[in-house]
Amino acid sequence: MAVLDIHLLGSPVLRERAEEITVVDDELRAFIDDMYDTMQVASGIGLAANQVGVARRVAIIDAEQQTFTMINPRIVESSSVKEAAEEGCLSIPDMFAEVTRPNSIVLEALNEQGEPYRMEASGLVARAIQHEIDHLDGVLFIDYLGAMKRTLLVKRWKKDNQGEGLTRTPTPEEPEPAS
Ligand code: NI
Repeated sequence: MAVLDIHLLGSPVLRERAEEITVVDDELRAFIDDMYDTMQVASGIGLAANQVGVARRVAIIDAEQQTFTMINPRIVESSSVKEAAEEGCLSIPDMFAEVTRPNSIVLEALNEQGEPYRMEASGLVARAIQHEIDHLDGVLFIDYLGAMKRTLLVKRWKKDNQGEGLTRTPTPEEPEPAS
């Protein structure tokens, strides 16, 4: 078991577009295992590789009793019905804001054996999938907020997190689910 450090807002890797994975091998699976350990300790419902400093296209979800790995994930369909709900992010602890996203999606990705799968998701699982794929594209949930609200929240967050550095070691004391 290895718990990885989580990169925080301000770390450049969170703004990188992660690279496609070409080989699904034991090395990747060991990294994914570490991602699961990290997400569990941090009480997360999702985690993208960028968040642990690796700009490769892999993310994991653990929401509403659905636990799965997404390698090179793509959203191939999105519902026109959208829903607003509060989101948080393990890379921006203690900041929460409402984000509007399609309520249901169809995902295509590879599993840990490198096999393609397709799944439909709605509600919180669909939201977490979209949030994690955004991470792989260098996008954060705060990017969806209005400029004024974002500036205010980021300013306040930076003030509260001064001196924390660009990474943190997760501890199992985080009550609110985030991804
Ligand atoms: Ni996040």
